[in-house]
Amino acid sequence: MTATGNQRARQTRLLALRFDGEALIALDQTQLPWREQYLRLTSAEEIAEAIRRLAIRGAPLIGVAAAYGIALDPSPAACALLKAARPTAVNLAYAVDRVAAADDPLTEAMAIHREEEASSDAIAAHGADLLAGTATILTHCNTGALAAPGRGTALAVVEELALRGSLRLALITESRPLLQGARLTAYELTTLGIRFELLVDAAAPAVIASGAVDAVIVGCDRVATNGDVANKVGTYALALAARAAEIPFVVAGPTSTIDGQCPSGAQITIEQRDPSEVRSLAGQPVTVPDAPCRNPAFDVTPAALISGLVTERGVATPVGIESVSELISG
Ligand code: MRU
Repeated sequence: MTATGNQRARQTRLLALRFDGEALIALDQTQLPWREQYLRLTSAEEIAEAIRRLAIRGAPLIGVAAAYGIALDPSPAACALLKAARPTAVNLAYAVDRVAAADDPLTEAMAIHREEEASSDAIAAHGADLLAGTATILTHCNTGALAAPGRGTALAVVEELALRGSLRLALITESRPLLQGARLTAYELTTLGIRFELLVDAAAPAVIASGAVDAVIVGCDRVATNGDVANKVGTYALALAARAAEIPFVVAGPTSTIDGQCPSGAQITIEQRDPSEVRSLAGQPVTVPDAPCRNPAFDVTPAALISGLVTERGVATPVGIESVSELISG
């Protein structure tokens, strides 16, 4: 990327949400890339609903949104509602518990927001150091400025590699059923001026096997203490393909995504979403009416398949109980 491109990337950073003192103003991600429409959410109920329908999404971002929800209404009912909005990303419970326990909920929510923003810069730098020289990278789902405050997580690393001059191409997966890759990552990379090609999910393992990919990087929704990672469904297949091709498979996320109470991936609740999401594509039916469907939103990748876990505190490698516990203790 040229110097001009770098400046453009910095100037055009997307703002997924902000709190205006009375309401959470959030870009409605269900409308992207077709419409940039902002929601004005004034209650914990409205924020929980926006999280449920993925208008606000991505583990760190839903944590920050929930934090502001508790600042608006710190009642036990609001805490329960927000925690239940989505079950897999631990950032939700982390943020709700922290803000609910604070003397000044709004100050605490703003602190979480600032911390996540700072984390994204640190993750970008650590990840780009780890993957220095990478020319072609493959990523899944959406993990950029739409998914986390600031630059994002895995996509922030992709951006940093571009800014440092090594990255030539980002391969991005569609991420069926809700197309976070096709709709959101393509939109972000276009905004940033980073060259990309979009793949259907099923194409990715063979493209990796062909030798065309230097490294795979993804985000995370919950990291167990043994290093197992829950992330967008399809992640596990990419990890297997990366292992078979002997290329790095890297996970990036803030330490707020590590669940110190969760010993392994087997204990992670995987969100099962409505079958209607599988029966249709961008609003158009793709199967027989009422086709029985299975719609897990996430899968679990065992720690043994992960080359490095990049956080704002540094990189765990190899990924396992010892290195993850070092990250937790800071
Ligand atoms: O269902 P989504 O779109 O919220 O899933 C998002 C992911 O799986 C991301 O990889 C994860 O939340 C990390 S976002 C920085």
